[in-house]
Amino acid sequence: MKNYLVNIDKRFLDVIKKIGQESDRQKMSAYIVGGIVRDILLKKKNYDLDIVIEGNVKKLAQSLAKKLKAKAIFYEQFGTATLNLENKLRIDLVTVRKESYARSGALPNVKLGTLRDDLFRRDFTINAMAMGINHSNFGHLIDLFNGKEDIRHGKIRVLHDKSFIDDPTRILRAVRFEQRFQFHIERHTLSLLKKAIKNKLTDNVTPTRYFVEFKKMLCEKSPVPNLRRLKGLGGFYFLHPQFKINLRHVNAVHQNIQKMRRKSMYKDQNQWWMVYLLAIVTHLSGDQRKGFGKKVHLRREEAKSLAQLEDCSEIMKQFLRKSLKRSEILKMLHSLEESVIFYLRAKTNQQQSHQYIDRYWSVDKNVQLSISGEDLKQIGLHEGKKMGRMLNEIYYHKIDKHIQTKQEELKLAKQLY
Ligand code: CTP
Repeated sequence: MKNYLVNIDKRFLDVIKKIGQESDRQKMSAYIVGGIVRDILLKKKNYDLDIVIEGNVKKLAQSLAKKLKAKAIFYEQFGTATLNLENKLRIDLVTVRKESYARSGALPNVKLGTLRDDLFRRDFTINAMAMGINHSNFGHLIDLFNGKEDIRHGKIRVLHDKSFIDDPTRILRAVRFEQRFQFHIERHTLSLLKKAIKNKLTDNVTPTRYFVEFKKMLCEKSPVPNLRRLKGLGGFYFLHPQFKINLRHVNAVHQNIQKMRRKSMYKDQNQWWMVYLLAIVTHLSGDQRKGFGKKVHLRREEAKSLAQLEDCSEIMKQFLRKSLKRSEILKMLHSLEESVIFYLRAKTNQQQSHQYIDRYWSVDKNVQLSISGEDLKQIGLHEGKKMGRMLNEIYYHKIDKHIQTKQEELKLAKQLY
């Protein structure tokens, strides 16, 4: 039988081998499953290792943690464990399980099952394959539902007709995998998906859970085709019943994001998904955005970003003015969340605004005063609002390049005093 694990990254292969050996030692069967198997067949990189075992997860995870020098986290109530390795590799271990859903969109009831049950509970055939990692079957593909054929033909196919009813978040997953791999949702699956949307099954899922899956869409390399497909399927009502996405705007923002990501000053940012979200919800009213943020339980700074959209058009207007002082730009931008600054940068093609934001981001936001409150105390000032105002004043002078050295800062402080 073919060994599919021969050509994968060496460091990764070593880890898989060690897990296999330890499973052999503990007389357990272990398999890699899900997305990683799909990506091995597609020859795509993926370092999220999902392992199912027929045996005791905790016992295996404890000895693996020692062997791989990993940090183990146990989730007793789910019978799962996560190992975090030094090189950012993450391994999830779980016992083979069978799932059933009491009602559409509910979290599944989980029981111990067989490998077949474990594969059958999954979303699509392409994600329902396993590979053995014990010595006797190392790298052997276990493909009970024709996942490999579906990969070959580029098909996204559910394993059974209740798949979207059980878990409506799979609507978003179907679109995401279809667009990521340039596959197509197979005909019968597509009709089940459309029926699920028509029957508003997404209302059965908690908005937070649904949003987690939506966020993954925004984290894809090119979210726009995903959004276009979702719009075509009428799948946006979960944001707001009357929501109409402006794809032209999102696409324009995307084009600029692509250019920004190539610039060294923005390269390491990881808030891009939030910039897409801002572009998507920008046409909702302030109240609607607030309601949406609450509904999906956005984190505090994410909700703040949504609220700060209110200020964007005024700032853009100001940016059109000729020769704004650097300190004036700083005053406008410094209290904004990063994602809002990036959104401002990405929503316009206007050169001057780009320059203003780039200079703020790469230089001015990092400027610090050389003097502190202690220096001001020495010239007789007391702590308090006045001191704060004076430090700000000196800071703005420094940003505007009127002063540079500590001596100049002190001199200005004395003058202002
Ligand atoms: N899964 C599922 N139904 C879901 C979510 C996940 O059946 N609603 C299963 C699939 O088998 C999937 C696996 O759990 O492959 C892991 O899920 P996840 O990490 O979300 O997806 P990946 O397939 O690994 O995709 P990605 O490459 O986007 O991480």
